[in-house]
Amino acid sequence: MAPISNPGPEALASQAGGGAPAHVAIIMDGNGRWAAARGLPRFEGHRRGVEALRRTVRSAIDLGIRYLTVYSFSSENWRRPAQEVSDLMGLLKRFIRNDLADLHRNQVRVRIAGTREGLSDEIKSLLSEAESLTRDNAGLTLVVAFNYGSRQEIAEAAAALARDVAAGKIDASAITPEALAARLYTHGVPDPDLVIRTSGEVRLSNFLLWQAAYSEFVFTPVLWPDFDRAALESAIAEFHARDRRFGGVSVRVGASA
Ligand code: FPP
Repeated sequence: MAPISNPGPEALASQAGGGAPAHVAIIMDGNGRWAAARGLPRFEGHRRGVEALRRTVRSAIDLGIRYLTVYSFSSENWRRPAQEVSDLMGLLKRFIRNDLADLHRNQVRVRIAGTREGLSDEIKSLLSEAESLTRDNAGLTLVVAFNYGSRQEIAEAAAALARDVAAGKIDASAITPEALAARLYTHGVPDPDLVIRTSGEVRLSNFLLWQAAYSEFVFTPVLWPDFDRAALESAIAEFHARDRRFGGVSVRVGASA
């Protein structure tokens, strides 16, 4: 049997070094419950969620995290009431308009993971602007999963492989995990070391199903609008207490074998 794809050197180094994990991915959940608990409209929870996102980007930079992926809008979120969908689109627009220059100044490279299908021309052009302006930045890579669904992503990658085989560009025997990963929205981004989900829910909800094969998971009851540097550090501390084996033997520093 062909070997499954291995963790990259960054994943091993980030576990062994005791520093920040190279790649942290976050399912930002609980905005609605945060608002409901205060008798506020859901929009206010999302608005405060954007503030938590800003704080988290800053903390990630401070802590030396190289990649931060955030689940901002899933392909299933279209099922929400039209007003809420429009609010979330509005918040994304405002986030890019207000924060892009600051992100750029801080050397953040923005990547968008998701399909552009169904998005307005205005949003599509803002997403492209964010990516092209920051393309050459060498600091934190912020992957914004927007209009993102992991099954769709994998299906699109499989379709791209099928097209390449049909066109004679590659042989079917060249379909490896690496070849598929190279056709995902996240191509070039190392797999997440740590996936955090806030709000106490314990599921992946169609997020990074392929990429999280060897990730550590931390589920915290903190609602996303309350998420802060202390909550991020606490998740990282839990990550460091784990013994990642990637199907092999212990890689934890100090572990006897
Ligand atoms: C989950 O809370 C959160 C979302 C569906 C969207 C996440 C969005 C943000 C953090 C703000 C928007 C940021 C950008 C860049 C667009 P929920 O509404 O499912 O909360 P609930 O489960 O408590 O109802």
